[in-house]
Amino acid sequence: MSKSYKIAVIPGDGTGPEVVAEGIKTLEAVSEKRGLDFQFTRFEIGGEHYKKTGEILSDETLEAFAGYDAMYLGAIGHPDVKPGVLEKGILLKLRFHYDQYINLRPIKLYEGVETPLKDKGPADIDFVVVRENTEGLYAGAGGILKKGTPDEVAVQESINTRKGVERCIRFAFEYCRKRNKEKKLTLCGKTNVLTYAFDLWERTFYEVAEEYPDITTDYAHVDAICMWMVKNPDWFDVIVTDNMFGDIITDLAAMIQGGMGIAAGGNINPEGISMFEPIGGSAPKYTGKGIINPVAAISSAQLMLETLGETEAAALIEGGVIKVLRDDIQNVAAGRMGMSTGEVGDRVADYIRQNG
Ligand code: IPM
Ligand code: MN
Repeated sequence: MSKSYKIAVIPGDGTGPEVVAEGIKTLEAVSEKRGLDFQFTRFEIGGEHYKKTGEILSDETLEAFAGYDAMYLGAIGHPDVKPGVLEKGILLKLRFHYDQYINLRPIKLYEGVETPLKDKGPADIDFVVVRENTEGLYAGAGGILKKGTPDEVAVQESINTRKGVERCIRFAFEYCRKRNKEKKLTLCGKTNVLTYAFDLWERTFYEVAEEYPDITTDYAHVDAICMWMVKNPDWFDVIVTDNMFGDIITDLAAMIQGGMGIAAGGNINPEGISMFEPIGGSAPKYTGKGIINPVAAISSAQLMLETLGETEAAALIEGGVIKVLRDDIQNVAAGRMGMSTGEVGDRVADYIRQNG
């Protein structure tokens, strides 16, 4: 009997629907070849929907995702909506509500993709960032006093719980072991200044490390990580860090792997429902032109299959991505691919049909 997965699809805003369509195209090819059955259900939420209806995310819709095996998101963002409204009201709300406590970001430079790093190639850039995804500065603790007066005070606190830190670190050790590459886990922190938060992170890191004698541990301050990522990206295998640092270093990491058109991500609850999304935003200026690169969305679908335990099906998608980046796409940037958004998806789907 074929295995069946219910996928909640949130195409969202801007180029989100275009890239998600290509991800679905490749998943459909996978389903034909690997005997998997995907049921896709679309949910219309995002900036466009908010402007039309005044509704950001109803409790009913929020709860509805509980009935799915995974969520697949295009992009949320609208130039006419004030920053923070949709991010907090949709993206962060979903991450927190479904306790997606890991933000997983694979960084891999594929053959045929240009990196801005001089003299670096695919052999040098292949690591994964495990970002804590529900705590830290993102928890929303703090407030503003005496707003708009000369005595105004703004406080934004980083919340780090032993439970939250430990489950993230434990996931990173497990992931590093399963990945089975360098078997090296680097903690990214700021123990020289943030002596409370990263004291907890550091102590927890080395305590958990005792259970993983096969994994080499390393530590680097976040500022130094930025430096090494540019100078010696080959030093990294798996990096684990808090929410804010993870947000920042994964944008840098996305650029060295070729840019936002390539960068895939997963918001993961290992015990629950996870959400997969390309990292790039809604890209309003490219919307509707069929020139946006869908590879990040396709690789996010691959990450979804990996997380669902469909390793072979995931590898099949990656095979298609490797092929299209190496042989077909001229440049990964939007408008410079030498082919349309739909053609990229077609090529990956063709590869899957021929090799699956
Ligand atoms: C990301 C994004 C989000 C974040 C924004 C859109 C809220 O930058 O997924 O990295 O900061 O987490
Ligand atoms: Mn970010």
